Amino acid sequence: MHDEQLRQLVTGMPKAELHIHIEGSLEPELIFALAQRNSVTLPYDSVEALRAAYAFSDLQSFLDIYYAGASVLLAEQDFYDMTAAYLRRAEQDNVRHAEIFFDPQTHTARGVPIATVIDGIWRACQDSPVSTGLILCFLRHLSEEEAIATLEEALPHRARLLGVGLDSSEVGNPPEKFARVFERARQLDLRLVAHAGEEGPPAYIESALDVLQVERIDHGVRCLDDANLVARLVREQMALTVCPLSNIKLRVFGDMAGHNLLELLDARLVATVNSDDPAYFGGYINDNFIAAFEALPLTRAHARTLARNSFNASFVDDERKRVWLDEVDAFFAEAA
Ligand code: HPA
Ligand code: ZN
Repeated sequence: MHDEQLRQLVTGMPKAELHIHIEGSLEPELIFALAQRNSVTLPYDSVEALRAAYAFSDLQSFLDIYYAGASVLLAEQDFYDMTAAYLRRAEQDNVRHAEIFFDPQTHTARGVPIATVIDGIWRACQDSPVSTGLILCFLRHLSEEEAIATLEEALPHRARLLGVGLDSSEVGNPPEKFARVFERARQLDLRLVAHAGEEGPPAYIESALDVLQVERIDHGVRCLDDANLVARLVREQMALTVCPLSNIKLRVFGDMAGHNLLELLDARLVATVNSDDPAYFGGYINDNFIAAFEALPLTRAHARTLARNSFNASFVDDERKRVWLDEVDAFFAEAA
């Protein structure tokens, strides 16, 4: 994107973020500050040494460092500070609404009560002008029994939860492993999403839809390997929460010029742009827009579609959607 105008459009346009792991927003500086505050010893000597370790070869090599980084989170205030820092950045990037993932099992396994996790994240959300929803993610490398126990532990906080999701190591942990816990979440009227088709095959996207009955697919970029699946995703207007910088850092695509975002949009798939784990992958949501628009022949029309998709794919009611969609339309009319 040599076009400064296009850059101003994608950064200035109102948008929703639908794929952000709050633990992935923990910047190295905050990791070190929290380690000191909580007397946690890190296997890195400095912020620079930690940042230097952020060279990933695949999803698992990232997850190992991501879980180590999250180990500094102990007190409610830690979860507050992390979430407040993310929401300040999101506000700067003109994010109006964020549906935020969190991984309670990463914390309860270390003896942190789930109430501490949810209270801290929730309080930061209340203090931000950004509209928010919380999505509890199950770690798919753990058992379904552990996921069910986590959902039960979260039930006293049901009113603070928008939905549930599924993340962590994808290949070898297909959606059908979590059929019962998603069934239980559905009975509780929680909204349902799952990571599928990031490293895993199109069959995982299909089973997320058919077995888990999810309403949105996180990543989903590998759907293009299966033409029948693409036709179905278009027919059902099933949103994909695409994370361009993540896909490059975790080597789903060799470089941004080889990313399939434009093909997804041209196929009429409901693609959105998101940051995934911004502290680890080199940027927040606007950095993702800038990187994609610089490397790919994306246009102003694509920018508008991506902004509209982000609100249409969110779980807010139609009335609030309408307000933000009108704001998008006004923004593009003014920037004519
Ligand atoms: N994929 C799977 N699990 C994750 C990710 C991701 O991109 N980020 C944080 N947990
Ligand atoms: Zn993710």
